[in-house]
Amino acid sequence: MEDVSHRLISWYESHKRALPWRETSDPYAIWVSEIILQQTRVAQGYDYYVRFMHAFPSVGALAEADEDQVLRLWQGLGYYSRARNMHAAAKQIVAQGSFPRTYDALLNLKGVGPYTAAAIASFAFGLPHAVVDGNVCRLMARLFAVEEPIDTSKGKSQVESLAKALMPEEQSALFNQAVMEFGALQCVPSSPRCEECPLADKCLALSQGRVEALPRKSHRTKVTERYFHYFLIEDGESLYLRKRTDDDIWQGLYELPLKEVATQDAEEEMPPVKSVRHVLSHQVIHASLYRQTVVPPLPPREGCLVVRWSDLDDYALPRLVQILLE
Ligand code: ADE
Repeated sequence: MEDVSHRLISWYESHKRALPWRETSDPYAIWVSEIILQQTRVAQGYDYYVRFMHAFPSVGALAEADEDQVLRLWQGLGYYSRARNMHAAAKQIVAQGSFPRTYDALLNLKGVGPYTAAAIASFAFGLPHAVVDGNVCRLMARLFAVEEPIDTSKGKSQVESLAKALMPEEQSALFNQAVMEFGALQCVPSSPRCEECPLADKCLALSQGRVEALPRKSHRTKVTERYFHYFLIEDGESLYLRKRTDDDIWQGLYELPLKEVATQDAEEEMPPVKSVRHVLSHQVIHASLYRQTVVPPLPPREGCLVVRWSDLDDYALPRLVQILLE
């Protein structure tokens, strides 16, 4: 075990990417980075992190921000509840008077689960909590040939015990960064280069010829098909937008007037000018865009904002709506 942790840490020291959230022990900065990096690769999240920290350099600044501005900075990253929860948690922290410093207190923050709590606890405060993300799951499942699917609580808790057993108590931050980086760069999902792996002689999956078969997953996530008819109604200068307020995808973002229909076959009076199939993690959205140009001025319309084309950048739009408007 000790040998494996040493090898992981020394691999990390020579292979790690220089990333801004690794150069700080500010719990706020670490929290922001970990929320952005959930479900998001470093290459995609990096610029968002820099812009976000520039706009909101402290938890106080985030707490005082307008939700529209927070979502605007998140535009294109997806999983917008991450931004809404973080904004709410920033207000929670300001109300409490200081950033929580224990694992349990961190878990009480909106949007902070075991992974994020462990990451902040170890990276900011040096506390001995093991992080378990997708990268860690994959590495542990292969190294120790974990048979239990990693998307079950049994599988997760096996992975967590293994990660804990490997983690040197005094070096939790270093070890946690190391396992995540190793999973991201070396023990990658498909075709990992095991011939170059410093853990090759310890890896049960490799010796059993099952690297590609592990980790196992129990059930594929169920995907819902949805049919969105969007209406671009404009007068050359302005268009209608509406804010999504329901507890549904894209809550708090802006979109065109929408009619959601139950089936593919539902038709409008006019043909669509564009059709797009947009894939989210649990939904596939079949979107059609209908266009209607009216003589100016665009009249007020219940539930809609009249927005000038030139001001469109002030509004956080889902990626799908951006694509339809391109
Ligand atoms: N993914 C999640 N957390 C990360 C971190 N701290 N560094 C790099 N990639 C990550």
